[in-house]
Amino acid sequence: MIGAEIAKADGWISFARFMELALYAPGLGYYAAGARKFGAAGDFITAPEISPMFGQCLARAIADTVRATNGDVLELGPGSGKLACDVLRELDTIDALPKRYLLLEVSADLRQRQQQAIAQLPAHLAALAHWIDALPENFDGAIIANEVLDVVPVHLLTFLGGWIFERGVVVEENGNFKWRDVPALPKSLVEPVARIQSGFANNMPPDGYLTEVAPAVDGLVASLAKMLRRGCLLLVDYGFRRAEFYHESRRSGTLMCHYRHFAHTDPFYLPGLQDITAHVDFSSVAEAAIAQGLELIGYTSQAQFLLQAGITELMAGHDPAHAASYLPITNQAQRLLSPAEMGEFFKVIGFSRGDVSVPALAMARPLPL
Ligand SMILES: C[S@@+](CC[C@H](N)C(=O)[O-])C[C@H]1O[C@@H](n2cnc3c(N)ncnc32)[C@H](O)[C@@H]1O
Repeated sequence: MIGAEIAKADGWISFARFMELALYAPGLGYYAAGARKFGAAGDFITAPEISPMFGQCLARAIADTVRATNGDVLELGPGSGKLACDVLRELDTIDALPKRYLLLEVSADLRQRQQQAIAQLPAHLAALAHWIDALPENFDGAIIANEVLDVVPVHLLTFLGGWIFERGVVVEENGNFKWRDVPALPKSLVEPVARIQSGFANNMPPDGYLTEVAPAVDGLVASLAKMLRRGCLLLVDYGFRRAEFYHESRRSGTLMCHYRHFAHTDPFYLPGLQDITAHVDFSSVAEAAIAQGLELIGYTSQAQFLLQAGITELMAGHDPAHAASYLPITNQAQRLLSPAEMGEFFKVIGFSRGDVSVPALAMARPLPL
């Protein structure tokens, strides 16, 4: 199917198109088809799958905004639906339920899984969930997304002999996929590439430098920002600010594939059966949101964010004398917070429009952007 698309496109497609097909082609793409994906039996594990405390903290972080706007919550890419369930339960506990909990999911298979998860909630919470097919025109409330930006298709670039090439995909005679670099850049990449170049002496990264650029991430963030009338936007993902992302020493980019908890760098291995991801350039995310008039309210590590959002209070609600229930909680907290696990690797970036506050972000130690 990807091969047919390449043939139709005169033998070459960009890596962004390859990634889009491998992840989202109806019926065949990794997120479109029925593989298990999340959790111990899947290919990777995300923070909401590790612990309900992640969603509880996120709920506490957005509670003020939900109350102040009397609005909705919108979750992008809700995966198994676990985060939605945890957020709704906690918002109920702290008396900050939204008018509606909107879920935007591009995968029909995952949407079905989310519906099954939400159906297990008490009826008054399940009744708040609504699946939407496109972003609303205007939105008041809180928008959240965990690990969504890293699965948005990226373009690959290589810098060789003073020239810039886009790396794309061709099919060999034996039917295997193969890389092919072409010297012409599409218009959509000219500006992002110029931003990368400006960080290097003589505007040129070292010879052989391979990296990614994600105009579709900027486009998605701009669309979210544009529709946000009053409220906040919180995005959680792994990545860096631009100076770190496009650092001289990061010569082979950040592309990563996940298959049954095995992480590797070959996107041609079992296309459609493995996840393909790239780190997020948070400077670019910030620029896209600010250009739409949003205010940047914080950029910090997941650990700092969860600590400010009250993870230690949540832990204190469990009795240390009950080892059977307390030990899993400490183990979960360690995975979410430890710098050796998710704590520093994952970042939270937050924006707002109008008179709303996200105290958990305002008080967290900010990272330089
Ligand atoms: C790595 S999973 C993360 C799932 C979940 N948020 C979690 O933390 O477990 C990525 C999710 O984003 C969805 N997704 C990807 N691109 C999207 C887009 N443009 N809009 C909405 N959802 C998207 C995928 O289908 C999937 O549900």
